[in-house]
Amino acid sequence: MLRAKQHIADLPAIIHGGVNSAALDGLGINPGNVLDFSTCCNPYGPPKHLRKAIREVNPSIYPDPESTVMVHALALKLGINPKNLILGSGSTEIIRLATAAYLGPGDKVVMPSPTYGEYELACRIVNADLIKFTLDEKGDFHLDAALFAAFAKSHKPAAIFLCNPNNPTGQYLSYDHVSMIIREFPDSLIVLDEAYIAFTEGAWNSLQLLKSPNLLIVRSMTKDFSLAGLRLGYGIAPKSIIATLKKVRPPWNVNSLAQHAGRMALSCDDYILRCCERINRCKHYLAGELIKLGLKVIPSQTNFFIFYAGDSAVFKSRLLERGFLVRDCASFGLVGYIRVSPRSMPDCRKLIAALREVC
Ligand SMILES: Cc1ncc(COP(=O)(O)O)c(C=O)c1O
Repeated sequence: MLRAKQHIADLPAIIHGGVNSAALDGLGINPGNVLDFSTCCNPYGPPKHLRKAIREVNPSIYPDPESTVMVHALALKLGINPKNLILGSGSTEIIRLATAAYLGPGDKVVMPSPTYGEYELACRIVNADLIKFTLDEKGDFHLDAALFAAFAKSHKPAAIFLCNPNNPTGQYLSYDHVSMIIREFPDSLIVLDEAYIAFTEGAWNSLQLLKSPNLLIVRSMTKDFSLAGLRLGYGIAPKSIIATLKKVRPPWNVNSLAQHAGRMALSCDDYILRCCERINRCKHYLAGELIKLGLKVIPSQTNFFIFYAGDSAVFKSRLLERGFLVRDCASFGLVGYIRVSPRSMPDCRKLIAALREVC
């Protein structure tokens, strides 16, 4: 009988936020009537001219496997050499390339927990050993970098994953802490996932760490410009790491629409800034109203936050009955917590009205 490798057969299903039309249909809910507060992309959608621009793309020819035009435009924007860049079909692909290229059976990988579930999946696919450093609820899930480094030292990791700011807790590590971890583990690959950096209050510039030979920065244009359906992310690293990742990259990994939309999006910096101001206003409104309702909100520096809801599965389904989708954090191992990411102010007001009924 045909059998998958045992560690592949044992892989867990990773749960993501977002509207699952089939599941909603099954519950008799029209997905078109649901306001989605569960995904953390830019809620204002892509800049208008992107929709028009992607109509210019010829779908009949293969995309440029090197994404040359987009890579050069992005490198120029970031002020780095194009050889320090690799594009991916979402930042998730960059994570997969990193584990495929640098990790193998039995390699130790340390990461804080809870965090983005795809790190675990990517590591388990290559049969690496996962070692989780549990974030303390009492300290609002803040990562104590010194304790984390001491913990990681005892495991001699081949890689360390840092999600900054962390999904789902929204906590953001300082430059000093990240650079300390990079320095302390010169023989480990440090994956610094900055998927939400564009939305982060008080963000510091991680490109100043690019000289570190063991650092891979991962970013998501999916989130920044709401291109979830096109999929676009990138990795920034020393040339040797980028060259290595390219060896395991599938051909034509970034489709033509994503390459073109990405290039057009690069001329829209003020769009992100304008969106961020509105997102922050909505986030502070939502958090403030939840606190008024007596709920415990964990402070976050980015475009989502978690709060304690008691029975989070029931809480989520009561909101869904009212047409609001939120993220139950039980799948992150955070039982009782709900994650929300703000939408427009009118939508946030509707959510708060529904929450008043549910609470
Ligand atoms: C921390 C983090 N990194 C990466 C991703 C993946 O984003 P992308 O759509 O760019 O693959 C997500 C998506 O939820 C995320 O939360």
